[in-house]
Amino acid sequence: MTKNILLTAIATSLLMAALPAAADPAHRAQAVAVIKKDFQPRGQASLDRLAEDGLQAVCNRTGNKPPEYIAKGLEGDQLAGVKYPADGKLMGDWKSGERLAQSGRGFTWTDDPGLPVGGNCYNCHQIAPKELSYGTVGPSLFHFGKLRGNTLEMQKYVYSKIYNAKAYNLCSEMPRFGHVGALNEKQIKDLVALLLDPESPVNK
Ligand code: HEC
Repeated sequence: MTKNILLTAIATSLLMAALPAAADPAHRAQAVAVIKKDFQPRGQASLDRLAEDGLQAVCNRTGNKPPEYIAKGLEGDQLAGVKYPADGKLMGDWKSGERLAQSGRGFTWTDDPGLPVGGNCYNCHQIAPKELSYGTVGPSLFHFGKLRGNTLEMQKYVYSKIYNAKAYNLCSEMPRFGHVGALNEKQIKDLVALLLDPESPVNK
C-alpha cells in the first residue's frame, strides 16, 4: 500500500515535471485529476488544498511570470487586504517569535487542529547561526534588523510580508500566513520582533 502510494507520487511528480508550467488547459486538467485521485482527504488535511485562487491561477498559467502590469495590480490587491493590529503596535515578543519560527508543526492529519501551528520559517530561511539545519528556498534572515534598520516603515513591511508575501512578489513561494489565517496577529507581531528587535538572536 505505502509502496503504491510512493510510486503514484513519483509518477505524479514526473507528470508534473514533464508539463511546462504554462501547460495547455487539457493537460493541466489531466494532471490535476491524477493528483486528486492519489491524495486522500484525512482529518484536517482535506482536498481543498488543491484548489487555486485567482492569483495562483495567474502564476500557475504564466510559469510564475505574469506581465508586470498584471502582477503590480494583483500585488496591490493583496496589500490592501492586510489587516494591521488595532493598537498600532507591530512588534511583539521575539522569544515567542523564535519558538514559532523554529516550529514546523501544524495542518497535517496527525496534528491536533486545536493546537496553534508553527511558522515553519526555518524550513526556507536561515534565522540565526545556532541553527544546524535550515532551508535555503528563501534568503537568510540573519542580521535582518541590523542590516535593514528597526524603523516603523520596516516594521510595517515585515508585518505585511509575513501576513501576505504575495503583496510584494506576486508569485512568491512564501506562504501567505495572515491571509490564509495560519498565523494570528499576535504571532505575526512576535515574528516581526524576532527579525527586528535588537535583542533578538537574529541581530546579535
Ligand atoms: C516555503 C518557503 C518559505 C517559508 C516557509 C517562509 N518563507 Fe519567507 N521567503 C521565502 C522566499 C522564497 C522569499 C524571497 C522571495 C520573496 O520575497 O517573496 C522570502 C522572503 C521573506 C522576507 C523578505 C526578505 C527581504 O529581504 O525583504 C521575509 C521578511 C520573510 N521571508 C520572512 C519569513 C518568516 C518570518 C517566515 C515564517 C513565518 C517565512 N518567511 C517563511 C520563502 C519562505
